[in-house]
Amino acid sequence: MLCKLFDTKKDLEKMLQNNEPRLVIAGNRNICIVRQNERLIAFENECPHMKEGLNAGIVNYLNEIVCPLHTYKFNLKTGIEERQRCSPLKFIKVEYSADGVFLNLT
Ligand code: FES
Repeated sequence: MLCKLFDTKKDLEKMLQNNEPRLVIAGNRNICIVRQNERLIAFENECPHMKEGLNAGIVNYLNEIVCPLHTYKFNLKTGIEERQRCSPLKFIKVEYSADGVFLNLT
């Protein structure tokens, strides 16, 4: 199932600050999105450690999202926690087309 988030990439850039995590609810799932320039990263919002909401975390200078509860750090490229103390982030595929920016929830 595709879920449209933005009409265009320009809208994405206008509506989201770079590296500022946001929560979206799509298909009954809580999904954290992070914009990095014209690219969007999406993953399940629940921290793989103890399910804290990652949308309340921050993105650090190492391109990791830092969970607000126990400060585990997940690489936004690989999803892997820095010391591999828990499972990686569960990424959601983002698709771009002339019709908009979509989450692929299949
Ligand atoms: S719940 Fe995220 S680090 Fe523990």
